[in-house]
Amino acid sequence: MKILVTGGLGYIGSHTVVALINQGYEVVIIDNLSNSSIEVLEGITAITNKTPEFHKIDLREKNTVAQFFDQHKDIKGIIHFAASKAVGESVEKPLLYYENNISSLVYLLQEMKKRNLSNFIFSSSCTVYGQADELPITENAPVKKAESPYGNTKLIGENMIEDFCQSQKEFKAISLRYFNPIGAHSSAKIGELPIGTPQNLVPFITQTAIGKRKELSVFGDDYNTPDGTCIRDYIHVMDLAEAHVRALERLLKAETKNNYEVFNLGTGSGSSVMEIIKTFEKVTAQKLPYKIAGRRAGDITAAFADTQKANEILGWKSKRSLEEALSSAWNWEINVNKN
Ligand code: NAD
Ligand code: UD1
Repeated sequence: MKILVTGGLGYIGSHTVVALINQGYEVVIIDNLSNSSIEVLEGITAITNKTPEFHKIDLREKNTVAQFFDQHKDIKGIIHFAASKAVGESVEKPLLYYENNISSLVYLLQEMKKRNLSNFIFSSSCTVYGQADELPITENAPVKKAESPYGNTKLIGENMIEDFCQSQKEFKAISLRYFNPIGAHSSAKIGELPIGTPQNLVPFITQTAIGKRKELSVFGDDYNTPDGTCIRDYIHVMDLAEAHVRALERLLKAETKNNYEVFNLGTGSGSSVMEIIKTFEKVTAQKLPYKIAGRRAGDITAAFADTQKANEILGWKSKRSLEEALSSAWNWEINVNKN
């Protein structure tokens, strides 16, 4: 069965492509390589012994997208990862983010409507909850005003898909709200490839440990948490990838009660920045240079998922440990620096 993965050469997309191929799906990838490299395709091939069909297409090019669907009439589902995701950049260039993340989504949905295609999975984020009033965060927690244009594109994206589902009862979609994806495939042949200085914690840690960065700045140790540093729910990217396969199956088997559903994807437990540093040092036997710095603007104190809905309804649970995730991130960093 043929599945379109947009942004399939990116970090989460490439791991999901591997999980899909492992489950026997035929994958077609669209990516404009704005935040990824064609070499990722080689990594996917080395892991799966299959090379997915790849199309270098920018989803903002409406006519090209239409042509693609004219030539691919047998697509049975779409997993839509393609988006710009740097929070800071989105504050500086909001229109770029609205254009890339929103217009691409509109064009895809328009093509799906035109061709009576269903089964759509959207990459959303726990950022839609902001600082939730209660922890762990359930899907019923109120969504908050977005802290950044990036976060707003996720909120708008979710709302747009829900509205579309209301108007098109035969169209089915799932939004997946990711907590903090980390780590890499166990082969170390694919992983996260941040361009420039990493903004996220784990890539910054691995680049510091390998000597590319002088030291990690811990953004604040005066939060209202046991050790004063922020708490997040770090989930292994392969667990996240496998959740997409499960969500897709739910759509394909018409298991959904409503034609639009939302699921949190996390492990259900939170770790502080200091716990991440200590666990990284333990599993890799590396000493990590770090200093305590001021708080980062816009950071929330703590977030971790209530995973009951995904466990019970999706029939999915994260399996891999934090140690495994950090160790795979380190192996990937070592591998990247060999080449
Ligand atoms: P990524 O940047 O590694 O992957 C996105 C891919 O989409 C890249 O390969 C990029 O080249 C491609 N792309 C971007 N704009 C495109 C366009 N107009 N046309 C075609 N291809 C385009 O990001 P990721 O970390 O894999 O994230 C995937 C999705 O998950 C994104 O929608 C992101 O917002 C969402 N998300 C990510 C995180 C995270 O922490 N990584 C957390 C929550 C949600
Ligand atoms: C980031 C994004 C958020 C996205 C989420 C999931 C920002 C402001 N927010 O949030 O939109 O949904 O990822 O991927 O970028 N930290 C340090 N030093 C560093 C880097 C991070 O101490 O050099 C701390 C942060 O303060 C935070 C934790 O590590 O407490 C995790 O940071 P990060 O990986 O950026 O994720 P989020 O803050 O959850």
